[in-house]
Amino acid sequence: GIDISKVLSDTGFVTYDPGFVNTAACTSAITYIDGDAGILRYRGYPIEQLAEKSSFIEVSYLLMYGELPTAAQLTEFSDRLRVHTLLHEDMRRFFEGFPRDAHPMSVLSASVSALGTFYQDSLDPFDHDQVEISTVRLLAKLPTIASYAYKKSIGQPLLYPDNSLGYVENYLRMTFGVPATAYEIDPVMAKALDLLLVLHADHEQNCSTSAVRLVGSAHASLFASVSSGVNALSGPLHGGANEAVLEMLEKIRLDGGDVAAFVRKVKAREDGIKLMGFGHRVYKNYDPRAAIVKGMAQEVLGRMAKPDPLLDIAMQLEEIALADDFFVSRKLYPNVDFYTGLIYKAMGFPPKMFTVLFALGRLPGWIAQWREMIGDSATKIGRPRQVYTGAPVRDFIPLDQR
Ligand code: ACO
Repeated sequence: GIDISKVLSDTGFVTYDPGFVNTAACTSAITYIDGDAGILRYRGYPIEQLAEKSSFIEVSYLLMYGELPTAAQLTEFSDRLRVHTLLHEDMRRFFEGFPRDAHPMSVLSASVSALGTFYQDSLDPFDHDQVEISTVRLLAKLPTIASYAYKKSIGQPLLYPDNSLGYVENYLRMTFGVPATAYEIDPVMAKALDLLLVLHADHEQNCSTSAVRLVGSAHASLFASVSSGVNALSGPLHGGANEAVLEMLEKIRLDGGDVAAFVRKVKAREDGIKLMGFGHRVYKNYDPRAAIVKGMAQEVLGRMAKPDPLLDIAMQLEEIALADDFFVSRKLYPNVDFYTGLIYKAMGFPPKMFTVLFALGRLPGWIAQWREMIGDSATKIGRPRQVYTGAPVRDFIPLDQR
């Protein structure tokens, strides 16, 4: 019955652990990672099996409710999502207000926050029915918001959702379709995108998920918490890396394609550059998601009429890095972001949308973790301690004497 952390803090001891490298902030039954062995499981199911046999909606259900749905449960859940895809008409005006070159991740987080203002009667984190409807609203509407953010950036009219379509198909049509023109969905592209969303759906206590939990621990609403998660994900050390990888590959190409020279610069820490899409706090082995994505990149890019020279640069980079002691000794392997950007590019998404696609995938994970946190009697408001390093006590000096 002794609360060790309370005893330590009462006696003046605190744990100093920048970046929470070794501090667990919660217990969780959702996702299991063994970083040394390169293992990832959602609710006990290996990611490889889910990638091969499941779908994004089924995985979302699994993450949030703990078990795979029966056929009837899956149909009911999908149907529920389908009827909630529309945004309130007044929300359309928000998209008019953003500058055309606004980063879609900023539009996304602002819109998720704003979405909460339309549902002020259902924001109670402790009311089960309100949490259920907020869950459905967020999952159903995020693709609509994401496609509106994109349409705004290219100056095209917004397209209403077509609820006869599946989740991913609907999103692709809203993104790449044009009003009054038939849009043919490419089933290979839809399947590939669905799989990428599955691979991103949860990753235990990563930066954005921790942000969602921390904000939620203050009993902020699901919308407010998820909006914070989107903002955390936008950083280039986190979800923003998929956009940064493509910029890096493009820069190498424009500089003449000398991959070995670029790796030398990374090793010399020239201008602080890193090999984007490499390294992970937890994986000290090949990221199992990256292995799946790499196979997919070759398949999807192989269908293109003209090969993308960036795929070749990426494969050379990986080969050189994995044979180099700098990367080997630091256990730096490709992470999930290393090849995803190339696939998104082949699908027709501009780099600015890459992290938005990550957010669409991570959403069920954020929601599942928020719900677990709210339902956990051990949850307390997140409030890290600090080690004070500032000035000792001193007397105030009046302005005319400084
Ligand atoms: N390129 C070159 N060197 C690297 C890289 C990299 N991508 N990543 C880490 N290192 C080096 C560090 O400089 C450090 O070297 P040192 O010990 O000589 O000082 C060592 O490897 C350990 O790295 P840390 O920064 O301490 O590792 P940390 O766990 O804090 O960071 C992170 C992990 C942020 C992912 C880091 O590897 C990185 O910045 N990678 C590039 C960005 C990226 O791809 N992010 C996506 C992460 S996955 C995701 O969000 C989906």
